Amino acid sequence: TDIEKGTYPFYMLKEIDEQPTVMRRLVQEYQGDNHQVNIDPALVAEFAQSDRIYIVACGTSNNAGWSAKTLIEKLTNIPVEVHLSSEFAYDMPLLSAKPFFIYLSQSGETADSRQVLVTTNKLGHPALTITNVAGSTLSREAKHTLLLYAGPEIAVASTKAYTGQIAVMSILAKAVGEYKQIQAAKEFDVFHELSIVASAMDSLINDKQHIKDLADEFLATTRNAFYIGRSNDYYVSMEAALKLKEISYVQAEGFAAGELKHGTIALIEEGTPVMAIITEEVTGSHTRGNIKEVESRGAKTLVIVTEKLAKPTDQIVLPTVHPLLSSLVSVVPTQLLAYNATIQRGYDVDKPRNLAKSVTVE
Ligand code: G6P
Repeated sequence: TDIEKGTYPFYMLKEIDEQPTVMRRLVQEYQGDNHQVNIDPALVAEFAQSDRIYIVACGTSNNAGWSAKTLIEKLTNIPVEVHLSSEFAYDMPLLSAKPFFIYLSQSGETADSRQVLVTTNKLGHPALTITNVAGSTLSREAKHTLLLYAGPEIAVASTKAYTGQIAVMSILAKAVGEYKQIQAAKEFDVFHELSIVASAMDSLINDKQHIKDLADEFLATTRNAFYIGRSNDYYVSMEAALKLKEISYVQAEGFAAGELKHGTIALIEEGTPVMAIITEEVTGSHTRGNIKEVESRGAKTLVIVTEKLAKPTDQIVLPTVHPLLSSLVSVVPTQLLAYNATIQRGYDVDKPRNLAKSVTVE
């Protein structure tokens, strides 16, 4: 397996770097000869006829579900709920009249998710598994499957599967929205936008040294750290915090920036690192206010932002992409921050303690 790693010290870094390639591969795999989306029409029709989408997943895949919620709603006009498999199994929400289930699972083997799939199959509801592994249990047992074409993901901390899942859901949502004649979907040139995302990822990946320096400065010795953002930036904050926790063991949380003042701001002390993600103008100005609030309580702040801020401040500038796809780009520096923090703290990036790549027990 060392050969597959090539010159990379860890699989995680290799897999982070592969993300632009995965985006381009998804464009190839899902684009038809006339630039239309090439997805089983039966799947598209069944999705389009449902009145509510239930995304069920664990861990990073669950975070990918959150990051796809808005884009699915905007492009298809169908409401989306995101659920943790282990909660859904024992506390099933009231279902709509025509539910459609999406199981997100990199491995396709997660027991918590499979348990829910068995139940919804019994109830006769249509289900789609989006997975990296053809022929996996969840793929075999769901009526429909879409593949991530991301190549094997070896590092326990998931990276390219997260971005792959969001990208596949954007392609699917485009197809469903077009089928339903939704204007927003007609105007959304998904394959072109994903190519722009791939280039944006490339440029962030080429900015590795800058991100490493920031990781050294912010995360080398801290006990805890916070990510904040609003709407899609909040959802990425949850994934960014999970990545940091999983491998560097820094106690990290992703907070909705507006909710800080309602309690969690009590955690901010002198020198606490707070990383803010800002890709949206409207919510961005509010998040900037929240940054000032934590700074005045002593926090050390890093801004991951689409537009360069005039004020000299620690920042990572994100290339501009379609707003519905911002998560695909804003997550990349947070993966690199987690990776570098872990190296800096002397831990094994690919094999964090207590975690398994796929969990086949409930
Ligand atoms: C495990 C892994 C996580 C992963 C989760 C869901 O807990 O450590 O990284 O996100 O399972 O895995 P899945 O294969 O279903 O996406």
